[in-house]
Amino acid sequence: APSDPDLVERARAAKAKLGDKVFVLGHHYQRDEVIEFADVTGDSFKLARDAAARPDAEYIVFCGVHFMAESADILTGDDQQVILPDLAAGCSMADMATAEQVAECWDVLTEAGIAEQVVPVSYMNSSADIKAFTGKHGGTICTSSNAKRALDWAFEQGEKVLFLPDQHLGRNTAVRDMGMSLDDCVVYNPHKPNGGLTAEELRAAKMILWRGHCSVHGRFSLDSVNDVRARIPDVNVLVHPECKNEVVAAADYVGSTEYIIKALEAAPRGSKWAIGTELNLVRRLANRFAAEDKEIVFLDKTVCFCSTMNRIDLPHLVWALESLAAGKVVNRIEVDKETESFAKLALERMLALP
Ligand code: 13P
Ligand code: SF4
Repeated sequence: APSDPDLVERARAAKAKLGDKVFVLGHHYQRDEVIEFADVTGDSFKLARDAAARPDAEYIVFCGVHFMAESADILTGDDQQVILPDLAAGCSMADMATAEQVAECWDVLTEAGIAEQVVPVSYMNSSADIKAFTGKHGGTICTSSNAKRALDWAFEQGEKVLFLPDQHLGRNTAVRDMGMSLDDCVVYNPHKPNGGLTAEELRAAKMILWRGHCSVHGRFSLDSVNDVRARIPDVNVLVHPECKNEVVAAADYVGSTEYIIKALEAAPRGSKWAIGTELNLVRRLANRFAAEDKEIVFLDKTVCFCSTMNRIDLPHLVWALESLAAGKVVNRIEVDKETESFAKLALERMLALP
């Protein structure tokens, strides 16, 4: 539905009043009505880098989810304030690994006598606490666009990787990009004693995958791929690496949101695509590329929006911008100094990956 013209006008006016004081970032999964006001858009890697691009901006309004705003706070100056327009915009995957659970896991690895060989690699989609744990234990952060490079680096530092919290990205990268087999991977379940694994299983594994997943991408299935191939002959199936291994294995192309956009930009006229990622992005791409005669469909009609990404809507954005324009800081995301220093170490290792 078209945005309420009154809200659009108010967002414009508040942004104009704030001028260079405000920098608005928008993740690709945000609603169109929000993306319209973003100064930059990107995947989580690009936004982590771009967050620091405007050191003069007093306010960074992050249209995305909580862990992204935390990362922006960690990577920007102390005098810059990061605002998340709705504090309820979390990420169910990031919530699947808590600091206590991860500390317990490290104890289990220590008990099994392997902690010294293990390098933690944490997906961007994790809390600042988990990033700090990663930094403290010599590990790095990765995103879906640099997971292979992060694993290459980690296996230069140690013999095993503890991959947090997305088991699918960890498994897909190990198997698709690193030449490992499914047997090289074990899944650590934080809800079971010792993660549900024996010390022998831990010692034999190369990749210890945390039992987390994305509630959106985890719903695409092998049936989704088979159905769309039956429905649309010659379709190219392009999915995000947060999808299950069987989906990724059946797809033609796999990549982060930024990769997906570039692949469609480069696609020939008349080509047909089924995309397995968040619906806001797929719809926007379908509309954008319809003019170039590229047919773009959503991989599975039963999968819906990321509900937490969608919490950031125009009314919340207007409220945040108008509050800032009136000199009132709302919904500030601030990571404490101790957590920040270790989390920053891990994030900087990622930014320095070749
Ligand atoms: P990317 O932005 O790295 O593609 O990740 C997708 C995602 O799930 C962000 O929450
Ligand atoms: Fe988290 Fe998945 Fe939503 Fe991304 S799409 S914010 S990983 S729940």
